[in-house]
Amino acid sequence: MKNALSISHEIISKHLKEGDTAVDATAGNGNDTLLMAKLVGNTGIVYAFDIQDNAIERTRKILNENELEHRVELIKSGHQYMDKYVINEISAVMFNLGYLPGGDHKIATKPGNTITALKTSLKLLKIGGIITIVVYYGGDSGFVEKDAVLKYAKQLDYKKYAVLMMDFINWINCPPILLYIRKLK
Ligand SMILES: C[S@@+](CC[C@H](N)C(=O)[O-])C[C@H]1O[C@@H](n2cnc3c(N)ncnc32)[C@H](O)[C@@H]1O
Repeated sequence: MKNALSISHEIISKHLKEGDTAVDATAGNGNDTLLMAKLVGNTGIVYAFDIQDNAIERTRKILNENELEHRVELIKSGHQYMDKYVINEISAVMFNLGYLPGGDHKIATKPGNTITALKTSLKLLKIGGIITIVVYYGGDSGFVEKDAVLKYAKQLDYKKYAVLMMDFINWINCPPILLYIRKLK
């Protein structure tokens, strides 16, 4: 059985096409950025945000190793400021919430910034465009953010957005949840 992260990769892989513009709102180790950089081809672009130097450097490294750095704009800034950097319409945005694996658990995504970035993403998204959000919670963090993101997603106008949530309800230890939003009009 796949997990939330691998399902998000499947969704993005089916959706993104050559020439598309995409955003990785939380670059981290660069795995999501790399996936999107492969998919948008040489005529597309990925904007990848992270607030930590080591996340930006890890992402740069993985892109270099795959000779794909030219397809990505790496931005050391919070995703809440996305609209300062991204001006064109976007086809897909990936959020992978929480802290950098192997990093400081205190430097994690925050509900207020995440909601601001989600609002901006919905504005920048083209009709038919999608957002995937992998929500980590449990252990020492993430509960407040999970509640805030679900509350925000639930009140989105159903005529404008379709919102799907996937949750492994019988798994133990708070497995991550996947939210999948599509802009309908
Ligand atoms: C779970 S990791 C992301 C994993 C990543 N997508 C990957 O493929 O490896 C979450 C990342 O969000 C970053 N982050 C926290 N607050 C942020 C913010 N306001 N804007 C952008 N990134 C943020 C953290 O520094 C951390 O690297």
